[in-house]
Amino acid sequence: MAKFETVEVNTDVLICGGGMAACGAAVEAAYWAKKNNLKVTLVDKAAMDRSGAVAMGLSAINQYVDVNSGKNTVKDYVDYVRNDLMGITREDLVANIARHVDSTVHLFEKWGLPIWKDADGNYVHEGRWQLMINGESYKVVVAEAAKNALGMDNIYERVFITEPLVENGKCVGAVGFSTRENKFYVFRAKATIAAMGGAVHVFKPRSSGEGLGRSWYPPFNSGASAYFTIKGGAEMTCQEVRFIPVRFKDAYGPVGAWFLLFKSRATNGIGENYMETRRSELENWKPYGLVKPVPANLRNWLMMLDVMEGKGPIYMRTEEAIEKLSSAVTDDKERKKKLRELESEAWEDFLDMTISQAILWAATNTAPEEKPSEIAACEPYFIGSHSGASGAWISGPEDLAPKDYFWGYANMCTVDGMFAAGDGSGASSHKFSSGSHAEGRIAAKAAVAYAVDHPDEPKFDAGKIEELKKRILLPLDLYEQHKNASSDPNINPNFMKPKMYMFRLQKIMDEYAGGVSTNFTTSKALLEKGLELIAFLHEDSEKLAAENLHELLRCWENIHRTWQAEAHVRTVLFREETRWPGYYFRADTPSMKDDWNCFANCKWDPNTGKWEMIKREVEYIY
Ligand code: FAD
Ligand code: ADX
Repeated sequence: MAKFETVEVNTDVLICGGGMAACGAAVEAAYWAKKNNLKVTLVDKAAMDRSGAVAMGLSAINQYVDVNSGKNTVKDYVDYVRNDLMGITREDLVANIARHVDSTVHLFEKWGLPIWKDADGNYVHEGRWQLMINGESYKVVVAEAAKNALGMDNIYERVFITEPLVENGKCVGAVGFSTRENKFYVFRAKATIAAMGGAVHVFKPRSSGEGLGRSWYPPFNSGASAYFTIKGGAEMTCQEVRFIPVRFKDAYGPVGAWFLLFKSRATNGIGENYMETRRSELENWKPYGLVKPVPANLRNWLMMLDVMEGKGPIYMRTEEAIEKLSSAVTDDKERKKKLRELESEAWEDFLDMTISQAILWAATNTAPEEKPSEIAACEPYFIGSHSGASGAWISGPEDLAPKDYFWGYANMCTVDGMFAAGDGSGASSHKFSSGSHAEGRIAAKAAVAYAVDHPDEPKFDAGKIEELKKRILLPLDLYEQHKNASSDPNINPNFMKPKMYMFRLQKIMDEYAGGVSTNFTTSKALLEKGLELIAFLHEDSEKLAAENLHELLRCWENIHRTWQAEAHVRTVLFREETRWPGYYFRADTPSMKDDWNCFANCKWDPNTGKWEMIKREVEYIY
């Protein structure tokens, strides 16, 4: 067996992840822990300064409710989210985040994040809920505050959390391994927060060849939150509600600034605006088809109908939008100034958060004021904090949650001592970067309270830890044992390399679960076949082999992805209707049904290894 030192860390509150939710959790937990003399530990698989979805920076803060101005209320935000998710949302969770998010945004500004201001000193809005920022260093600013709060002695970077530790139905910590040194970590904790983001590369990406792996969602997040909570026996929700963003084609640049700030249109290959020509289709998705703004998945759907009819390419009409905005200025000199301003804002929008899109513009001689750019629907991602909703089923806050939605501590999963936030918690979409940070704070405060109320030292069977260590390091052993059986390290009768395994997972998901190649369409028969193939993949995951630590990381990322994939397929199969046609379309149940106006939850039982599918009522509180 590979020689790995075992490092044991005992703590009170363990934060798994180092992204937006985890950084929020760190700041809040540190505050409450100090009052209660508790220890807080954070573990990130990467370096916090540039880890997670905000690694490259962002160009906007997408959730700011601005309650103090009186322009919006928490209810307005809940209405927006409910409508966007076609009625399926936990209003208590959305409201809890919405009432706290403004204070998080004010903290960001205090910590040094530049938020755009107009001549009167007011924030510049991109849309009703979004603020424009100079966000290249967004993550660095937020991580710095988290590091200052916890102190570097309590932060483990480049440690990959692999498995939860659950004993007698209670989460008592996690295990993982260093991605740089031969060290196996055992973290024992009284309360543990899963904030390890969502998942990408579960589905085959559109990118191939020289651009293979390029995606909208960052490659760093590979389903760890979902795996952690599912494997721990937690009930999951909205596992079918993947997110398909429409993005600038091939480099995945954001569209929000174009649609909202620049008021651009998108048109098809013959110049038609599908939002107008396809408007009658929205009637089929009433009542949500008729709300404003049109839900994200239905905006996608209208575009997809054009593409399926061969009316592509779809263009973002950047040249038209810039012309319209600048020609509104009558003075010649001022108009030129406005034009330059718009051009620089257009480039900055990409340079702040998707640099590759700016590079693609440069490489293809694209001046946005001169010619339009193609946009396209991306491959599916799991990101419950954005316009998807997948994540763990968590308790709401005591003062807002209906009785069935509250079990003692806000953001606690159905497993005692296990909490979730950000992409880790489900049915509370549209929290984005700011709301995820706010939700991390909510979860951390509750986790500290749980640790105070349950002071018993966390225990876990030492023999089981040894077994886990052996299993986690197995890919290294398999490689060493069999590497000489063939001359090509990627092809061997005794093992499978993680990249090959990933290709197989992605092919199954693409072809059977409604990926890009099948125009996001699936059916009962396809899903059942997909499940059969996933079962074989699970069996073969025991043959994963790793040449080094980096590949060991890749092996476990792919095992995590497989569990996210299975939860997804099972839930799409369970929900016998089509509710989010622009995210996936069930050809055998092509419309929305009243008896599915409910949550489709699922749970894996660690004792029996069996999945249970559960319908839960949507309780509206506003
Ligand atoms: P993340 O911030 O992604 O953090 C996940 C963390 O978990 C990372 O630190 C990662 O390293 C760590 N991790 C993962 N696996 C493991 C493991 N096994 N062990 C240990 N650590 C692990 N929001 C906005 O407000 N404005 C925008 O303009 C905007 N643009 C976006 C653009 C893109 C391309 C994307 C993907 C998202 C965007 N968002 C935006 C949304 C925002 O980034 C997310 O909502 C937010 O980052 C979610 O926070 P999180 O903590 O759940 O996940
Ligand atoms: S980002 O995460 O990459 O920044 P994106 O650029 O699509 O996302 O959108 C940013 C924000 O604008 C999100 O809140 C999104 O829901 C909203 N948005 C984008 N396009 C539209 C549109 N056409 N109508 C209404 N809202 C939109």
